[in-house]
Amino acid sequence: MRLLFIGDVVGSMGREMVHDQLHKLKQQYKPQVTILNGENAAAGRGITEKIYKGFLQDGVDIVTMGNHTWDNREIFEFIDEAKKMIRPANYPEGTPGNGIAYIKVNQLELAVINLIGRVFMSDVDDPFRKADELVEEASQRTPLIFVDFHAETTSEKQAMGWYLDGRVSAVVGTHTHVQTNDARILPAGTAYLTDVGMTGPYDEILGMRREAVINRFLTQMPTRFEVPKEGRKLLSGCFIEIDDTTGAAKRIENIVINDDRPFGNNF
Ligand SMILES: [Fe+2]
Repeated sequence: MRLLFIGDVVGSMGREMVHDQLHKLKQQYKPQVTILNGENAAAGRGITEKIYKGFLQDGVDIVTMGNHTWDNREIFEFIDEAKKMIRPANYPEGTPGNGIAYIKVNQLELAVINLIGRVFMSDVDDPFRKADELVEEASQRTPLIFVDFHAETTSEKQAMGWYLDGRVSAVVGTHTHVQTNDARILPAGTAYLTDVGMTGPYDEILGMRREAVINRFLTQMPTRFEVPKEGRKLLSGCFIEIDDTTGAAKRIENIVINDDRPFGNNF
């Protein structure tokens, strides 16, 4: 199975980049499933129904979320119907939405799991124990399992990669917005990338207007962070190829598109 994952889409510039580039990426990589992290899609915070549906129209199959899942209150009105959107599975019992989704491709089925870390993040359930539970459940149905681990620290992400090595097809990190250069296939067959990076403003800081972020560092004063609507753009993602029978990864490649590395630099 061929799989495309697009990293944290930030605001309108991120959405424009998906709209403009996804069809070209699909021509190039011919993915059977496209997954996208959309937790920053609505002006940096959360997602709306219109944005979610826009992603599906652009050719996205599954939208994953993270710590900003609840930031746009509109989510409570459509999350129950949004079968192609998942939020971190290790949120406490009783939280709306699902943390795992299955997508059918011809005779195959891919399980997509969203988890969130605990280090320097909020106090949620143990993502490792939750991973055990969901991987066990998914394995009954399919060997093809993709995990988006939304976490702050490289150590917690690496730990998840090694913990699940051989049990899932891929563990890819999201949240820190800067793509890491460590894509690899771990010894027991799990594709791993610490962070896939972000999609949105290229000349700002993690997608937020840079002047405000710099000012915060200079003054330590509370600052209003805003997501710019104009400027140069970036898309970050990765491509993964999985053996249909065993679920083991055969290939993982970083994808970056920006003015310094225009479309086509990856191939
Ligand atoms: Fe995040």
